[in-house]
Amino acid sequence: MIIGILDSGIGGKTVLKEIKKLLPDEEFVYFADYENCPYGTKSLDELKKIVSSGVEYLLSKGAKIIVLACNTATTQTVNFLRERYPTVPFVGTEPAIKKACSESSDAAKILLLVTEGTARAERTRELIDSNKKPEQKVEVVACPGLAKAIEDGDDAKIEVVLSEIEIAEKFETVVLGCTHYPIIRDKIQRKFPAAKLIDGSEGVAKEVLRVYQEINS
Ligand code: DGL
Repeated sequence: MIIGILDSGIGGKTVLKEIKKLLPDEEFVYFADYENCPYGTKSLDELKKIVSSGVEYLLSKGAKIIVLACNTATTQTVNFLRERYPTVPFVGTEPAIKKACSESSDAAKILLLVTEGTARAERTRELIDSNKKPEQKVEVVACPGLAKAIEDGDDAKIEVVLSEIEIAEKFETVVLGCTHYPIIRDKIQRKFPAAKLIDGSEGVAKEVLRVYQEINS
């Protein structure tokens, strides 16, 4: 089966790597939308158009499952896509807030690093409200320019953006809420040496496997 993967660039490869561990023999078509990178700064209308073109490209290549390997696209457009392409099975990538809340202590402070688009998405707020334990605190911080700097392999810019994240508190858990961020996991860990870093790619891979098995059953 052909599985289509979509991201604004190389970020989705962090998700693809996990999917390949569970489905090593499948065929993958990866759409890296360099032309429109970064997605984080796009308006909702722009993003819907851009992502729809990506989906149509993947469908034209024969994709039978489409994985939005992008938190920005998922939190803002997955419902729209499901309505627009009702016969296409979509698997989205959402910030791993559920995992972070359940694996952190009851009074943990959790930091969510995301793009501007994911920070303002209603879905992000819903995920926090429905998973946060009463004593937990989840702080959402947008990292403008970080995904693009990672995409460009611009180490100097990455350091500048990371140094601009001003955090006064100590966080037990840091959620990497953009699929580009695990690529610089070591740098983020150096900034938050005591924190446990979490991303959602394993969960996405399990969901892809579930959908794959459902289609094949
Ligand atoms: N990798 C994407 C995400 O997970 C998009 C980053 C961007 O293009 O701004 O949010």
